[in-house]
Amino acid sequence: MIKQLSLPESSFTVTPWSVKGDVDYDKLITQFGVKKIDDALLKRIKKLAGGEIHPYLRRGIFFSHMYLDKVLDAVEKKEKAYLYTGRAPSGPVHLGHLVPWMFTKWLQDKFNMPLLFQIPDEEKVLFKDNLTAQEAERWTMENIYDIIAVGFDPKKTKIFIDTEYAGHMYKHACSVAKKTTASTAKALFGLTDSDNVGKYFYTCMQSVPAFLPTVMEGKKTPCLIPCAIDQDVHFRLTRDVAEGIGFPKPATILCRFLPALAAGGKMSASEMDTLVAATDSPDVVRKKIMKYAFSGGRDNMEEHRKYGGNPDIDVAYQWLMFFEEDDAKLKKIHDDYKSGKLLSGELKMILVDKLNAFLKKHQAAREKAKKSVEKFMLRD
Ligand code: TRP
Repeated sequence: MIKQLSLPESSFTVTPWSVKGDVDYDKLITQFGVKKIDDALLKRIKKLAGGEIHPYLRRGIFFSHMYLDKVLDAVEKKEKAYLYTGRAPSGPVHLGHLVPWMFTKWLQDKFNMPLLFQIPDEEKVLFKDNLTAQEAERWTMENIYDIIAVGFDPKKTKIFIDTEYAGHMYKHACSVAKKTTASTAKALFGLTDSDNVGKYFYTCMQSVPAFLPTVMEGKKTPCLIPCAIDQDVHFRLTRDVAEGIGFPKPATILCRFLPALAAGGKMSASEMDTLVAATDSPDVVRKKIMKYAFSGGRDNMEEHRKYGGNPDIDVAYQWLMFFEEDDAKLKKIHDDYKSGKLLSGELKMILVDKLNAFLKKHQAAREKAKKSVEKFMLRD
């Protein structure tokens, strides 16, 4: 049986289309029936990665999984295993999107894995009342530049757009559809009778790339999907039907959300003031952080110096956990903020400088990416 999305007593909800409230990630592990990445698994990843462990693993940002061990078995035996992730275009790429992608690049580099990158350009058109297919088409290219800018290996990465590559996918999507009842889709995605039928079918399209490694290799081939935990619901369905239609169950490795600037929830591309876009200028980044980043500081300087700030709720500090790779630097910032030595405004400026240095590189890579799109595309 597939588990229901969120239990009635929770004070938060996590669905692929909205995240509300203060997410309790331990509770999500139970609700979604996924596994925690424990120390033994971390050690194993580190060993296979040649002694290095990504900060997102060290810091519990990628914190849960399903069947990751099976993919590591394949890596260990030098058998081919694929990565798969995706992005539904509906607006600009923001920093929260880059988090799983940067981690995916690390996996690709360390484990020498091919990557399939799905662009479901129909998804948000079906799910959002106010997004037209023409607008999604425009965002598709804009988003692909950001994806390429992350630095994936063009020899090992294939990007494909659903409405275009559908010829190769439709057959498998129908196999998934045949095994999926409307009541399962309703329970999993919270759909009702007044939702359009495209919403019911869409999840079948998101399942397909998990099977493409097997289709492409002509034999059962493991697939690992790095993504934020809100996407897990799709792959629960995928795993449920996979073996019945002749494919192995895909593995997932799941991350938490980069918090929204104003406390609570994940960054949503529809609330421009709570996110930083990958294309924002240094000036805009500074203004957004200074104005909107929820502060864990005290009401005035005297109190802050005396009692210190709270890094656990401070969004600038939380963001540094995603963007400052150096553990020693991060610890010093944490301790100085907690003791009151570092003021909120100063902490925010550390973040602004860090992000602007990061975005300068990203934006330069993005410009270059415009010329190399065709190296990455899997066309029909
Ligand atoms: N549904 C995702 C989004 O809203 C896009 C997506 C498609 C995806 N396939 C994926 C995300 C696989 C993660 C992994 O952007």
